[in-house]
Amino acid sequence: MKIGLSIFCVFVIISLTTGCYYDNEEYLYGTCDTSNVTFSKDIKPIIDANCINCHSGGAIDLTNYNGVKAKVLDSTLYKSISYSYSGANSSKNMPSSGKLDDCSISKVKAWIDGGALNN
Ligand code: HEC
Repeated sequence: MKIGLSIFCVFVIISLTTGCYYDNEEYLYGTCDTSNVTFSKDIKPIIDANCINCHSGGAIDLTNYNGVKAKVLDSTLYKSISYSYSGANSSKNMPSSGKLDDCSISKVKAWIDGGALNN
């Protein structure tokens, strides 16, 4: 009985201390859902949160669909977020502060593979 209680307490403590760390979609469901990815529901929020503070005008304007699509068409969008640049071009890996989470990158890839639709 006493041992059972100790094990129970240890379990509770572990649950409490690690619980929140895994509190995001990817870990909760164990998978990243890349089906039915749309520009408005999935892609725009990722770009709004991570890119437009630097790319909201000029040569690279990611504030709207056409601007994002242009970077899909010249193939630099996925190249930059997948950190595929190396050597002297490493500064083109985006965002420069660190790679996006894997699920966001997978969603962008799924959207591009699906034709980068304005959906
Ligand atoms: C802190 C500012 C900053 C943020 C945030 C940022 N970028 Fe950039 N981005 C730059 C700069 C500066 C360059 C030019 C880098 C160079 O040419 O070396 C660039 C270049 C690019 C390029 C052109 C790459 C090429 O091959 O010429 C693309 C595409 C791009 N960014 C997309 C994005 C995307 C998508 C995000 C968000 C996931 C993002 N950027 C976030 C500053 C930023």
